Amino acid sequence: MTQPTFSNLTWHSGTVTRADREQLLGQKGVTVWFTGLSASGKSTIACLVEQRLIERKKHAYRLDGDNIRMGLNKNLGFSAEDRAENIRRIGEVARLFTDAGSIVLASFVSPYRKDRDAVRAGLQPGEFIEVYVKVSIEEAAKRDPKGLYKKALSGQIKGFTGIDDPYEAPTTPEILIDTETCDPGAAAEQIVSYLERSGYLRN
Ligand code: ADX
Repeated sequence: MTQPTFSNLTWHSGTVTRADREQLLGQKGVTVWFTGLSASGKSTIACLVEQRLIERKKHAYRLDGDNIRMGLNKNLGFSAEDRAENIRRIGEVARLFTDAGSIVLASFVSPYRKDRDAVRAGLQPGEFIEVYVKVSIEEAAKRDPKGLYKKALSGQIKGFTGIDDPYEAPTTPEILIDTETCDPGAAAEQIVSYLERSGYLRN
């Protein structure tokens, strides 16, 4: 892991290396970052990818928006500043898991391009795979599994992504999933094949 410089702090390296951990696990550490509107299917697809990787005896771990906001980030709301801090902290957690050799499956709305790009910049080239889970706002509002679009459209929730808050879609994601034409199983397959083809599932 590349180390930033701080005054009065010294990085303490151990004797076990990243390569040792990756050899133990038989894979390469990587962060797969799912971005998309609420109800796009990010978490559903991430769960399927996790299941398929574990079946193949690969170590994967999910970081999920709603879950992280109930713990580590429970002091954050949905202003642009809080969303940036949410993504920054998750980016740091993802960096640690990636260094541990895990395949991180991070699903967050992460509506701002600069926040996602900052996470990418904190990792080495090839360690960040952006997956754009695409859905139209009309379709997301129709699915509405948590009833949040209904609340946002009636003004009960303010600043809801896609309704009265922005979503900046990735322009060059590594993987694009159009959830209006591709079911979650096929999407998971596409992602696992990408990992396989690109050499992440061996050390
Ligand atoms: S992010 O914008 O900071 O990346 P994150 O992925 O952590 O968001 O959390 C999004 C989840 O919080 C959504 O899936 C939804 O369940 C819930 N949520 C509650 N309020 C909002 C809001 N104003 N905008 C978007 N999602 C919201």
